[in-house]
Amino acid sequence: KPDDWHVHFRDREILKAVVPETSRTFARAIVMPNLKPPILNGKQAIQYKERIKKIIPKTDYFEPFMTIYLTEKTNKKDLKEAYNSRDVFAAKLYPAGATTNSDSGVKDIKKIMPVLETMAKVGMPLLIHGEVTHKEVDIFDREKVFIDQNLDFICKELPELKITLEHITTEEATMYVNQGNRNLVATITPHHLALNRNAIFVGGIRPHNYCLPILKREKHRRALIKVATSGNKKFFLGTDTAPHFTSDKENCCGCAGIFNATYCMSILAQIFEDNNSIKNLEKFTSLNGSNHYGLSKNKTKIKLLKRNNPIIFKKQIKVGNNSISVFNPDFPVYWEVI
Ligand code: NCD
Ligand code: ZN
Repeated sequence: KPDDWHVHFRDREILKAVVPETSRTFARAIVMPNLKPPILNGKQAIQYKERIKKIIPKTDYFEPFMTIYLTEKTNKKDLKEAYNSRDVFAAKLYPAGATTNSDSGVKDIKKIMPVLETMAKVGMPLLIHGEVTHKEVDIFDREKVFIDQNLDFICKELPELKITLEHITTEEATMYVNQGNRNLVATITPHHLALNRNAIFVGGIRPHNYCLPILKREKHRRALIKVATSGNKKFFLGTDTAPHFTSDKENCCGCAGIFNATYCMSILAQIFEDNNSIKNLEKFTSLNGSNHYGLSKNKTKIKLLKRNNPIIFKKQIKVGNNSISVFNPDFPVYWEVI
């Protein structure tokens, strides 16, 4: 069974609607802490985990792994205790203003170095949204600039820290991670493997293909495909499935985030097959991540069946009077999870 090392479950009615979409196919997931207000300490993480567990269908075996949102005020002692008691699995670094609900993120990385040192000592993983947020930096360059200005600094100061550079989108990121120290790995999303930046503008503006980090040029997509399908241990799946109401996406200031949980494994199987790498799908979705985090692999399995006709994707899932639009890469997908 695959694991998803990066999900957004939100809270309340959205939580109820989206958890089963993940737990149906995935055995474990790392749950992001960017709620409004964010999950800032162990106590809040435990409470959030309880809310998630109530929603998991009885027929699904699924385990959520919780995270804490780092701020310049994060308490080292609380973080260490939450990690040692296994209530919390990892801490998430959002540069302030980088993405949805990241206002309380970190402005100056140097201010959290003592917290990162503690994490390195106890073996707690650091998950990074790797984009700078300076207005003067072009949105398509923000990942590369983050690597040069911040990630390289953290990796050199704390080579023992377990770091996941999340949802990478550029050739530069694939190269940096590949050549970087052994504790540095990266996750890749299905949408960054499926689409390049043209998909945001096909015949008009396409809010459902808008996410952060933003989709990049085709050469970057090719670089992601290359590392994901290679079986390389440093790269594994983190879907970044990020539900927003359809009305908040189709809006004059639309939210960033793509809800891809529903057909994720089907889309990935199609992409891996199209790149003659179906044999490496299991490494990417089910083995490399658990191996990096020192967890055993899942004992149960899923079955993927190749149909004669493409799957007809459902367009939306209902949430009260609202809906969440389901990611569709707009190429034929023949693989079904049965
Ligand atoms: C995510 C969200 O909506 O919470 N949005 C996104 O575009 N990926 C936040 C994030 O992971 O950047
Ligand atoms: Zn995310």
